[in-house]
Amino acid sequence: MYNSPAVNFQNENASRSSCIHNFLRISLPRVLLLLFATTWAASPQENQTTPQPPTEPSQALVATPTFYRDVLPILQQHCQSCHRAGEIGPMQLMSYAQTRPLARAVADSAAKREMPPWFADPAVGHFSNDPSLTQQEIDTLVSWVNAQAPAGDPHSAPPPRPWPEGWMIPQPDAIVRMPKPVALPAHGDIDYTYEIVPTGFTEDKWVQMSEIQPSSRANVHHAVVYVRPPNSNWLRHAPIGVPFTGADMTDEQDRQDAHFTQADILLVYAPGSSPDSWPEGTAKFVPAGSSLVFQMHYMAHGHATSDQSSIGIIFANHPPQQRVLTLQLTNDRFVIPPGVNDYRVEVHGSLPNDAVLLSFFPHMHLRGKRFEYNILRPNKSAKPLLRVNYNFYWQLSYRLAEPLALPAGTVLQAVAWYDNSKNNPHNPDPDAAVRWGDQTYDEMMVGFFDVAVRADLDKPHYFLRSSDPPAPQR
Ligand code: HEC
Repeated sequence: MYNSPAVNFQNENASRSSCIHNFLRISLPRVLLLLFATTWAASPQENQTTPQPPTEPSQALVATPTFYRDVLPILQQHCQSCHRAGEIGPMQLMSYAQTRPLARAVADSAAKREMPPWFADPAVGHFSNDPSLTQQEIDTLVSWVNAQAPAGDPHSAPPPRPWPEGWMIPQPDAIVRMPKPVALPAHGDIDYTYEIVPTGFTEDKWVQMSEIQPSSRANVHHAVVYVRPPNSNWLRHAPIGVPFTGADMTDEQDRQDAHFTQADILLVYAPGSSPDSWPEGTAKFVPAGSSLVFQMHYMAHGHATSDQSSIGIIFANHPPQQRVLTLQLTNDRFVIPPGVNDYRVEVHGSLPNDAVLLSFFPHMHLRGKRFEYNILRPNKSAKPLLRVNYNFYWQLSYRLAEPLALPAGTVLQAVAWYDNSKNNPHNPDPDAAVRWGDQTYDEMMVGFFDVAVRADLDKPHYFLRSSDPPAPQR
């Protein structure tokens, strides 16, 4: 299969001659030697080709990439966070032996930008957690495969990347662990699983850094940890310290609560994501006596196991000037007609007070197709901030590379598109008219976003406008 150069964007002769060059220089595994021998036998006249000076502008593209020198650094930087033992990637990409049989799939997934998973349209915005490959890295993988995926010289390999065993953040000031492990089946879909954990904090806390540490990383597809203050009614009848799902709730309000909440988010985790570390002078607030609510999206991974995740927290040294709030733009009054493949749902609102925009987290269900955040200018033109080609199975946060100061009155817009046609492979029922609902066969339209606001403002106070009548009338 490696004999057919499917994509060949470089000078044919230059590429062949550098193959030959490699072949002479290094010792290759027997299988590869055979492959090369066959290629040569098929085109004997090519052997006569004398090496030519590269004619392409980029030297890096013309020299045949090798695994150890060129490919392994890319895998270390962009792939091994998930494709190593114990992580969610279905296979490991640590060694030549592991990667060689998958070389074509690796290059294809990179060329189609399916891997690493990232769904922001590159034409809109810059994000600090964007793991995407550069075009040059993609070209390297593709030309490596087209050159029969040579190993190269093991001495040219970068040192193995050390992967953290414990916390990535410094030693946490507090560790909050789910009291009971969650039993996970070997196969099948697993409903979102919750566990409510009292923090035992006797005073208000400011959180500078936090990190979720699953005990079974391979099974945690994503996790959201919410802050439930002591006076909250959210999931009021739900049990404390034991796992449950929305379906376990007998109270209708609790069942809906399991899937939708106004509660502040402390942290979102997805495999490969880095821990939260709020900029100096900003922090998340956890009132005394709060519980943390773990919302876990688990994935079966071929064998029955269990998970007992923890969150590690580092408190701010001093009270910050700004508090980080997670807000949301939500439209729950839509009806998506059956069969329609690009149904648009919009919501916008003006910021009641100044804020610095930090990050986004769009949420829809299985019919979600695209999601956009914009600023609507007074003349109604839209300045796009983020455009996501949505994938329910990869709910990610998108952190602005440069936080954006937004004055009070700025109009933020979220626009969602849904594919309710039979061409959407995830669509549970293309004949249904779909409304807001908590199950994944219903839909949601939530544009979460994080902002830094004045430290003395909680959510209700942030939403008081200076033009509003005095508080009691609200
Ligand atoms: C955030 C975790 C993550 C990262 C980072 C990641 N992968 Fe994956 N990869 C997965 C998961 C999970 C799957 C299987 C499910 C899926 O395809 O979504 C997968 C599947 C694959 C597949 C099989 C897809 C297919 O065609 O069937 C290939 C090949 C692959 N990854 C290559 C890569 C390469 C190359 C990189 C780095 C450039 C990379 N992955 C980075 C998580 C990741």
